[in-house]
Amino acid sequence: MNKHACSLDLDPFDAAFLADPYAHHASIRDAGPVVWLEAVGAYGMARYEEVQQALRDHATFCSSRGVGLADFSKETPFRPPSLLLEVDPPLHDRTRSLMNRIVSIRTLKEFRSSWQAKAEELVDALVERRRFDAVKDLAEVFPMAIFPDTIGLMEEGREHLLDYATIVFNAFGPRNEVFEEGNRGKEAAISWVTQACKRENLKPDGWGMQVYEAADRGDCSQDEAERLVRSFLSAGVDTTVNGIAHLVLALAEFPSEFAKLRANRNLAIKAFEESLRWDSTVQTFFRTTAREVEIGGTALPAGEKVLLFLAAANRDPTKWEHPESFDLDRNASGHVGFGFGIHQCLGQMVARLEGELIATALAERVESIRLAGPPVRRLNNTLHALESLPVEVVPTGAR
Ligand code: HEM
Repeated sequence: MNKHACSLDLDPFDAAFLADPYAHHASIRDAGPVVWLEAVGAYGMARYEEVQQALRDHATFCSSRGVGLADFSKETPFRPPSLLLEVDPPLHDRTRSLMNRIVSIRTLKEFRSSWQAKAEELVDALVERRRFDAVKDLAEVFPMAIFPDTIGLMEEGREHLLDYATIVFNAFGPRNEVFEEGNRGKEAAISWVTQACKRENLKPDGWGMQVYEAADRGDCSQDEAERLVRSFLSAGVDTTVNGIAHLVLALAEFPSEFAKLRANRNLAIKAFEESLRWDSTVQTFFRTTAREVEIGGTALPAGEKVLLFLAAANRDPTKWEHPESFDLDRNASGHVGFGFGIHQCLGQMVARLEGELIATALAERVESIRLAGPPVRRLNNTLHALESLPVEVVPTGAR
């Protein structure tokens, strides 16, 4: 029997939803394994099982027609599609294995001690101040202190990276007010990124130049190399900025868990992982059905857009006990905060290392963290982002 998907009268991209997505997820999960979202003209899935299954089944739920609301088979993408995120195999296999060789465990091991020194220096200075903005003074500063150098970007204009990410992540949603607002006056960011990805503007030895060297070996063309470097710039900064901000928010809101981390610093990796499950920086991505597919008795035709609510899956109570709690005793593995399947985040080891180093530096220096004012959200069509997170810390041994 072909059931109709329940039609929901909510807009997952309106300001009320984006400001507090968690208040709305249960109504989507409860409505069924798949729902029809009238406001955007797309299907939606918010339960863990279906979201994870769709991410695994890239042949049915394809990415090459765009992972935003725009269907690339009908509309021209706002920029040339990503050669990782917005392609399917076999092209994806080729580009992804090339990039996997650059973002390797071995390379990250080499970076560890210098990144650690930067994290410690930064946290030392903030602990001395006691009160600081965990977004502006920590979460934005740390990735910007290490990531552009890792890629080998030109020095001038690096501040455009955050604006560029805002534009890219907003563009996966509809052309709403959030999109317009995020783009206003940001044209310079797009032209800066275009320049920054060019071979002549990259420093030797960085990951950016390594992509061009792969092109020299015949692994991809020079034009493809330029677009692959762009993937680092689109996805590598605002994601970790907000990941680190949510980590600090979790440690402030759950003091018992921060105490566990202080007692056992080995929990630092777990703390970052659980913070991503608890408040997922990347909230949603679309897929397009490449063929007719049945979900819980409902047939979805080919060529339909399906919005996958990653963050809702990460708080699905049928998968996670007390999902709204940040809990270091929980095994958060299997969360879809980095996606799942062939498109699972290329930079997850980078993000994990950054998160671990900040969590460790805080645990070593701070007795407690509390909110010194209300967190301020920055609305984005894809990211759950923080504009400001005022905190106060008590240095270890200061009481
Ligand atoms: C906390 C930080 C991060 C989060 C939450 C995050 C999240 C994600 C998610 C959910 C996907 C899957 C997209 C999909 O299935 O359509 C993804 C893919 C991707 N991420 Fe990340 N990411 C983070 C950090 C990074 C960093 C630091 C980099 C760069 C080094 C990066 C580069 C990429 C790229 C290139 C892809 C596309 C991979 C592919 O399609 O094969 N990400 N990320």
